[in-house]
Amino acid sequence: MKAIEIRNKYLNFFKEHGHTIIPSAPLIPENDPSVLFTTAGMQPLVPYLLGEKHPMGTRLTDYQKCVRTVDIDEVGDNRHLTYFEMLGNWSLGDYFKEESIKMSFEFLTKELGIPVEKLSVTCFAGDEDCPRDTVSAETWKKAGIPEDHIYYYGKDDNWWIAGEEGPCGPDTEMFYDTGKPACGPDCQPSCDCGKYVEIWNNVFMEYFKDGKGTYTKLKQKNVDTGLGLERMAMLLQGKETPFDTEIFKPIMDKLEELQKVDNIQSRRIVAEHLRSSMMIIADGGRPSNIDRGYVLRRLIRRMIRHMNKLQIDLSEIKTLIEINVNNLKEMYPELEKNKETIISVITEEKDKFVKTLAHGEREFNKEIEKLKQEGKSKIDGKVVFRLYDTYGFPPEVTKELAEENGMEIDSEEFDKLFKEHQEKSRMGSGQKFKGGLADQNEKTISYHTATHLLHQALRIVLGEHVKQSGSNITEERLRFDFTHPQKMTKEEIQKVEDLVNEQIKRDLPVTCEEMSYEEAKKSGAIGLFTDKYGDRVKVYTIGDFSKEICGGPHVTHTGDMGRFKIKKEESSSSGIRRIKAVLIKDN
Ligand code: ALA
Repeated sequence: MKAIEIRNKYLNFFKEHGHTIIPSAPLIPENDPSVLFTTAGMQPLVPYLLGEKHPMGTRLTDYQKCVRTVDIDEVGDNRHLTYFEMLGNWSLGDYFKEESIKMSFEFLTKELGIPVEKLSVTCFAGDEDCPRDTVSAETWKKAGIPEDHIYYYGKDDNWWIAGEEGPCGPDTEMFYDTGKPACGPDCQPSCDCGKYVEIWNNVFMEYFKDGKGTYTKLKQKNVDTGLGLERMAMLLQGKETPFDTEIFKPIMDKLEELQKVDNIQSRRIVAEHLRSSMMIIADGGRPSNIDRGYVLRRLIRRMIRHMNKLQIDLSEIKTLIEINVNNLKEMYPELEKNKETIISVITEEKDKFVKTLAHGEREFNKEIEKLKQEGKSKIDGKVVFRLYDTYGFPPEVTKELAEENGMEIDSEEFDKLFKEHQEKSRMGSGQKFKGGLADQNEKTISYHTATHLLHQALRIVLGEHVKQSGSNITEERLRFDFTHPQKMTKEEIQKVEDLVNEQIKRDLPVTCEEMSYEEAKKSGAIGLFTDKYGDRVKVYTIGDFSKEICGGPHVTHTGDMGRFKIKKEESSSSGIRRIKAVLIKDN
């Protein structure tokens, strides 16, 4: 069964079971203070898992585009992907464990035709925070899963939370037995040997974990599920890796045809990173040196390095993009819609990287000469880091070149410096997913409303070409990216600031209405990322000043927000300006 057929079957199945199909949110989360990319289907739904009413009801289903970058260095093996599609269904305080499990069982065995004996399931074993999940185990048994295919594990395996804080709960996971021999007498679904592959995760989200690690019950009992599409396609097609499915086959074949040096790992890296980069660019991502822009840059550059390893001419990139667009456009029409942009962004980044490589190599050679004269054979971590930081020369390349020269690099020192750098640019391991809007409080809510005021003020002062292209809120400040071709003047900044403060002083009421997307557009509401909205949307109106499509939450009146002050106006990337602003409470 092809991936797109699995997707359609899934959405239709849950539609028949009373769910509304909602569109995938973009890969780049809107107004999310802490996350680089959408990493799970539940992420855009956090406010609703916490109890806010969803305009489309209490049973939802979708396919969600996801990027997870923690495993970026693992890509190239037979299973890791940075981009993947997650099929999901949600109960927002509607059905719970039994109905959820019954539907999963029916979908797997009847719709996908997986034989029962191929399935194993795991349930939460229980601990001081939450009791043993016997309800799930009993339900599986009743459905037809034999007792010796039901396992209990603790929080490490059967508890799900996005990051450290937010809605969470015990989960039940479904595993597919590939038929490979067991690795030993203790081989179980939790084992990593490859016999069992996790195919679906149903999370029973009835808890909230706060920053101190305390669990409390949520207002409602939710179900959040996630099924990895690429993996399911691979299993149903009896393939060994996702790269052997129709999703990657055309690009893998082309790479094999073009390569002058055979390297399966490099082919997978090129195929995987190209698809990821294309999806990110189609959703508005652009390469840069920080945050998600840096992830995209890294994906593109790693892809290019591996094209070099395969000795594929870099001018073939355009052909490779075209193959992917043709192959994937039915699943992701946005790829075709943004094809020219994708080609130009990737080509531009490639050109920059080629220069970087040449430049870095010159610097590297100078360093090597120095070391040779000094009779040393180890390159300082500081040097590796300088090559990286100043010349954008990837440490992997430095390492490879060092080895070619019979030298080694001080990876430990480099890693230390790199970690510090990562923390500074808030990416990598320091980056925690805090459940989207889950950590809303009075301050972040005020900043959220201030963002709407700022957006409108910019449109009044600079013109209607101003569109939000990103936003990031913490308790201390807001950051707002918008389209505008040049630096704002001092006068413009002052005007915008005054305009926002005027609205705060007027103590305007903030109201929210639900309406269809069409009605919202007609009402003059501004909105971003149109693809993400379902048929019904929320429109927040701030007095007579601003009207914007948004999930909320917002303050009820602007009066208590504090004084608005723009701290910085700078370039974010080409054609995009960035404002950092604070709300100051004078008393
Ligand atoms: N949110 C759950 C996951 O990502 C379903 O596995």
